Amino acid sequence: MTVLSEQPSRLAPAALEAYWMPFTANRQFKQKPRMFVRAEGMYYTTDDGRQILDGFAGLWCCNAGHGRKPIVEAIQKQAATMDYSPAFQMGHPAAFELANAIVELAPHSLDHVFFCNSGSEAVDTALKIALAYQRARGEGGRTRLIGRERGYHGVGFGGIAVGGISANRKMYGALMAGVDHLPHTHNLEKNAFSKGQPEWGAHLADELERLVTLHDPSTIAAVIVEPMAGSTGVLIPPKGYLQRLREITSKHGILLIFDEVITAFGRVGTSFASDFFGVEPDMITFAKGVTSGSVPMGGVLVSNAIYQQFMGGPAGAIELFHGYTYSAHPLACAAGLATLKLYKDEGLFERAAKLAPKFEAAVHSLKGTKHVIDVRNIGLVAGIELAARPNAVGARGFETYLACWDRGVLVRNTGDIIALAPALIVEEAQIDRIVSTLKEVLGGLA
Ligand SMILES: Cc1ncc(COP(=O)(O)O)c(C=O)c1O
Repeated sequence: MTVLSEQPSRLAPAALEAYWMPFTANRQFKQKPRMFVRAEGMYYTTDDGRQILDGFAGLWCCNAGHGRKPIVEAIQKQAATMDYSPAFQMGHPAAFELANAIVELAPHSLDHVFFCNSGSEAVDTALKIALAYQRARGEGGRTRLIGRERGYHGVGFGGIAVGGISANRKMYGALMAGVDHLPHTHNLEKNAFSKGQPEWGAHLADELERLVTLHDPSTIAAVIVEPMAGSTGVLIPPKGYLQRLREITSKHGILLIFDEVITAFGRVGTSFASDFFGVEPDMITFAKGVTSGSVPMGGVLVSNAIYQQFMGGPAGAIELFHGYTYSAHPLACAAGLATLKLYKDEGLFERAAKLAPKFEAAVHSLKGTKHVIDVRNIGLVAGIELAARPNAVGARGFETYLACWDRGVLVRNTGDIIALAPALIVEEAQIDRIVSTLKEVLGGLA
């Protein structure tokens, strides 16, 4: 089969067929592909040689920007030194070093790390640890898991069960038994154009009390939420909401899991969103930013109390029957160590915090732009919600994404919500360009 057409970096149409692309309109894409061939700093290069300003850190992950030399060199060096080390009953130093480095950044009580390879695996791992923990402490009746409407926790069976996006759930049968959901916190009537955390909505956490009464605390193992719900279209937690969830879960012996796959590693201007919001959960899932997207990696931070609960059996016993061939893969660990060092050396989390007011002012200047019905933001994340076109929900959002692409700017749409999450190295002029491109595109859109 011919793979390359005359232009060396462009694939012939037939060569696009075999790859079944994830979360993609395959037939539409293959008619008119959008291909990246290089990435450096804040820019991608397309296969037709255009520069695309990355307003989305790849896919919420390249927080240090693209192709950063220290990360690239660390990966190259590790690949040449030791490609792989068995994950079970053996170790390699970088795995332990990276766990220590992550714990150093984490909220005080979270001091152990379980490694995996993605956000989805991190979520399924955290849910399994929650169930096993409750059983290990003699509360084996606590088998229920509680997520939230509109939550995104990846695509494993556990993640879609506790997740609350119906398109991700409806095709996959009964999912997991014993899962319930909190209401989401989105309300445009009350909170449209809030800057940072909205004032209204803390009481929505009290719905957890209702679920606890309905099911009885003795049946509930854990609650999992994204502190800032990203993939559903950037929903910022109302003031006091996460604190209330913490109070209720603690009161009833229920574990609280924060899914920080997007928010960890500087996205909101702190190491973890837990620091930003001042709420310490029992577990944190992370992925994406830990290697700045350079090598797949995920993990779960767990509290000392949870870890110690597993350490009481016979000394030679395996404490948790769970793990992945590629848990703490040497390349991912090398990338992670170099990434965390780069964040520190360049003060990138502080930089994000310092830039946040400028970013906020820029995105809120979209208020009044045609079709815009809400702008919301926290740290270096924003959601710009557009009015849906009658009978064509999502069309306006997708057209906005395509028109920005044509103008050399990468944004992401979830339905009719445009999400922005630039790398933490973004310059002020680049923020202005992203926002002015959106203004221009929306102004011209039907
Ligand atoms: C909060 C959250 N959890 C889990 C995931 C799944 O991560 P992955 O795609 O690496 O499996 C994502 C991905 O965007 C996410 O945003």
